[in-house]
Amino acid sequence: MSEDEAPALRSRPAWAALESHFAEVEARHLRDLFASDPQRGERLVADGAGLHLDFSKNRITDETVMLLGQLAGECGVEERREAMFAGEHINVSEDRAVLHVALRMPRQRSLLVDGVDVVKQVHETLDRMGAFAERVRSGEWTGHTGKPIRNVVNVGIGGSDLGPVMAYEALRHFSRREMTFRFVSNVDGTDFAESTRGLDPEETLFVISSKTFTTLETMTNARTAREWSLAGLGGEEAAVAKHFVAVSTNAEEVAKFGIDVENMFGFWEWVGGRYSMDSAIGLSTMLAIGPARFAEMLAGFHAMDEHFREAPLAENLPVLMGLLSVWYGDFFGAQTCGVFPYDQYLHRFPAYLQQLTMESNGKHVTLDGAHVDYDTGAIFWGEPGTNGQHSFYQLIHQGTRLIPCDFIGFMHSNNPLGRHHDLLMSNVFAQSEALAFGKTPEQVRAEGTAEEVVPHRVMEGNRPSNTILAERLDPHTLGTLVALYEHSVFTQGAIWGIDSFDQWGVELGKALAVAIIPELQADEEPELAHDSSTNALIRRYRQARRAE
Ligand code: F6P
Repeated sequence: MSEDEAPALRSRPAWAALESHFAEVEARHLRDLFASDPQRGERLVADGAGLHLDFSKNRITDETVMLLGQLAGECGVEERREAMFAGEHINVSEDRAVLHVALRMPRQRSLLVDGVDVVKQVHETLDRMGAFAERVRSGEWTGHTGKPIRNVVNVGIGGSDLGPVMAYEALRHFSRREMTFRFVSNVDGTDFAESTRGLDPEETLFVISSKTFTTLETMTNARTAREWSLAGLGGEEAAVAKHFVAVSTNAEEVAKFGIDVENMFGFWEWVGGRYSMDSAIGLSTMLAIGPARFAEMLAGFHAMDEHFREAPLAENLPVLMGLLSVWYGDFFGAQTCGVFPYDQYLHRFPAYLQQLTMESNGKHVTLDGAHVDYDTGAIFWGEPGTNGQHSFYQLIHQGTRLIPCDFIGFMHSNNPLGRHHDLLMSNVFAQSEALAFGKTPEQVRAEGTAEEVVPHRVMEGNRPSNTILAERLDPHTLGTLVALYEHSVFTQGAIWGIDSFDQWGVELGKALAVAIIPELQADEEPELAHDSSTNALIRRYRQARRAE
């Protein structure tokens, strides 16, 4: 397809049908949709892999669901899903298979990709990780001076950090409490300094996590970590072997860095960075919660994979959520999607989802290079409830923008303290109710509100949300939740016909930064050939550094 040729999406029959259907739905209020259909709240729900999705508070009718399903059919979502599970190179711009689903396939399964059984490879690595994790956790693996490891510092960025830190925080309840886990990602020296503050080098293990093992931030932090470690261990190079392990696909670079490849845990190019928390990139997670709990997490991922593969589209949680994102983004013009986990342990989940969703679907061309004439990936953001309620929820309730929200709640708390959990969950239910139904002027007046204040207190409602419920936040549930969003992202990408698995957009900034480093550090005033703004900023910085 040439670059000027329009992509197919807008000319699909289901798209046209959705466009005329949208006019009808847009005019309807959730109050009326519920009033005229008393079963709606029990019908527009779906269950899968232990998660319950209530999608009834969305601005849809049964016809919307049917038409969106038709769109999925016309866009070949199921065929593309099968192509992914079969190991086809669906990441076209990098000519790679996309097989994070193989990372959680049970041991007895087999999946041949280019003649290699990838499930066998996955379990060999899991076994090595398990053996290592047990040695560290039991104290059998000791540091250079013979002390057991008490501190684990994961050094990585993007997918090599966000998954590990999110999973550690989410599963802290199940973690080895006598051990300290820290995460260094930013090239800002403050991150390293604060993350290692108070740690004893004799008891500290660094896990250098990088798919490529060339990422500027991670390599800079890894070198600083080596200096920090050696400085605390008498400068003996031999200490590195006891205090550094690597997680990477790049054995050559790992060896060059000085880490024995015996202490390297590998993964494969068919695992994207943002889809890697269940690969060896999860080593810090396994060190925290142990191999058995890690296996439970993988089983959760796999349960959602099976649901995604087997459930009919209209009952398929990730497909439904993906289609709803398309509905709001492309028909209602919604720009963002709020994700609000009502569990403090999930406080890094929105940040994790930002990379998963936005690095995947922030794309402007289709698989064959045509510029899209519709919006793609939404901006994902969020904070745990109830904190967000006392901050930005005002805008969601009474602002001028439509912000579809996902509320995530659990039936049981991992920390059942008095009435806390009932209060927490009452807020989940209250928020989605308030967003959907609001408060009419009549209701406000009936409360005796002065007439001039009435408009301020009216809540229009008709603001859509999904509610996702699970029994309890544990490793299995975390796996299902992450896979839910992974496959929702996949569904959206398949509808938009984009490559959800590359990330060329982040490359330019990386290359420009590398070019600027010597210009900041040169002793002589460098010849700058940037635009006038960038030149002036660089000069200003150099001047400030000279004055130090
Ligand atoms: O931000 C770009 C990116 O390539 C991400 O996709 C990836 O997760 C991150 O950098 C880190 O890459 P690596 O694991 O190779 O260090």
